[in-house]
Amino acid sequence: MSGRRYVVLMGPPGAGKGTQASRVAEEGGMCKISTGDLLREALAAGTELGRKAEKTMKAGELVSDDVILGLVDEVLDRSECSGGAVFDGFPRTVDQARGLEGLLAQRGETLDQVLIIEVPETEIVTRLSGRRVCKTCGKLYHISFGPSRQEGVCDACGGELVQRPDDAPETITRRLAVYAEETAPVREHYAATVGVTAIDGDQPIDAVTEAIRRELQPADAEG
Ligand code: AP5
Repeated sequence: MSGRRYVVLMGPPGAGKGTQASRVAEEGGMCKISTGDLLREALAAGTELGRKAEKTMKAGELVSDDVILGLVDEVLDRSECSGGAVFDGFPRTVDQARGLEGLLAQRGETLDQVLIIEVPETEIVTRLSGRRVCKTCGKLYHISFGPSRQEGVCDACGGELVQRPDDAPETITRRLAVYAEETAPVREHYAATVGVTAIDGDQPIDAVTEAIRRELQPADAEG
């Protein structure tokens, strides 16, 4: 046993995966691997991959499995992931789930746990339309549920808070449909393999964190 932990945090767009993954990763000595963040970083850096993904993301569609698995493969070996990883927004297709199993097996590791944050659709729309993100450090806010101290300015770094282009109402609708079509089967895949633990995401942010803490298994002891 390596003592590393690998946890998938699933859930529909706006369920709070990014919010919770940051907390859980920090507390558990793991890194957070968010494929959405990795794609947005590639876009901001102006790489070819980022330019290619831009249109797909703006439309609320999924970027190809090969590209996503390539990104995850590279990040898994970073030093900050030496204690394991919390996967946020990945895997999103059954092929990605199988690909992740392969990437972990290459490293002598296995997936430990899958948690799914459940939130009703009406709440999702409210959350996404009120979400603001720091352009500089990526910290997440919500105009009603978690506002910054000064409107439009990041508490952590003073950066500008912006709305994500894919949080436009028509794109939210498409992202929810894609989730139902492509990502719901991933839950079935995990239910039949490692098992899935449901988390009630329709409660305040700290209460969701507490619910996750209660369900999270401790890291394997060495030996
Ligand atoms: P990605 O960035 O992964 O977006 P997503 O899965 O749609 O999820 P979100 O980031 O929108 O929501 P979240 O669940 O993280 O919620 P958050 O914590 O921000 O992907 C974007 C795009 O990239 C995809 O559409 C696709 O094109 C592409 N992509 C990414 N990964 C891919 C993959 N694996 N394969 C293929 N394509 C991929 O919270 C939302 C808001 O609610 C925030 O404002 C927050 O403050 C607030 N909030 C959170 N929790 C609560 C709470 N409990 N109560 C009240 N407010 C809350």
